[in-house]
Parts: sequence; C-alpha cells; structure tokens
Amino acid sequence: MAHDLAAWVYVSSSFMKEKNISSAMRDKLLRSAKKAMKNAHAPYSNFYVGAAILLKGGKIFSGCNVENASYGMTNCAERTAIFSAVAQLGPKIEIQAVAVTNAQDVACSPCGACRQVIYEFGPDATIFFQGANGPKQAHITELLPEGFRLK
Ligand code: THU
Repeated sequence: MAHDLAAWVYVSSSFMKEKNISSAMRDKLLRSAKKAMKNAHAPYSNFYVGAAILLKGGKIFSGCNVENASYGMTNCAERTAIFSAVAQLGPKIEIQAVAVTNAQDVACSPCGACRQVIYEFGPDATIFFQGANGPKQAHITELLPEGFRLK
C-alpha cells in the first residue's frame, strides 16, 4: 500500500459518539476500495476511484466511479458502494465507516452529494480519505455539518 499508514491523521473530536474503527479494519476497507477501483469506468476524467463501506454487523460493500458520456450522469464510487449495499440488504443498513481511494493517490474527499448520501445511512460514520496533507480520518458531520434529514 502506498500510504504510510502511521501517518493517518485523527481529527475527530472527543465529543462525537463515533465508534473507533480499528487500524486493521481501516486497512481492510482501503484494500477493498482499491480492488473495486480497478473496475472504474472513468474514460472521461481518467480519475479512478474506489470506495468501501463497513456496515453495522460487519458486512463490507465496495464500489467504483461509473462515468457517462453525458457527464452529469456519473456516479461516484461512494454512492455506488452505498446503493449496492441497499440493493442487496434493503434500506435499514447503518454505515459505520467509509474508505475512499484513488489511483493517483492525490487528495480526494467525498463530494458534497456523496456526503449527504453517506449521512442518510451513516450519521455517525467515520470517513477515511486522502486529505490535502495526506491520509485523513474524519467524522461525517465534520465533512457535512447540518446534514439534511426529512422529519
Ligand atoms: N469521484 C468519485 O468517485 N468519488 C469522489 O470522492 C470524488 C470524485 C469521481 C467522479 C468522477 O468520475 C471522477 O471522480 C472525477 O470527478
């Protein structure tokens, strides 16, 4: 793995009820994300992304970005993984963690749309991604303050 795993930066505040994800599980999610990344359909951006999600109960689902000639139809890796889990298990899934990788190993946090979709199923999720200064861990509410909820 290209990352220096010791360099993961923990930024989550102690007041958050976030469950600690072990480094072994984090690495497993990153490996799963990297594997899915190889299936990306990204002929327009050439930016290959993979994501893996850990569900309450321990199941892991992965996804890649799927682009389209009509660019706006593109689905990010994160949403592919989440929609795949919902398709398999139904809407009661609870996301505990999300790992995101890209083939160029450059900074890449979940986009705004994906943050809202993560929040829908994982309001307490931990996100692992490449930050501007290297590998980073953040709580979903740090990435998406005041996430939208209907009711
Ligand atoms: N992309 C993702 O799949 N996830 C991210 O977190 C950032 C962006 C994809 C969408 C598009 O296929 C490509 O990366 C370039 O934006």
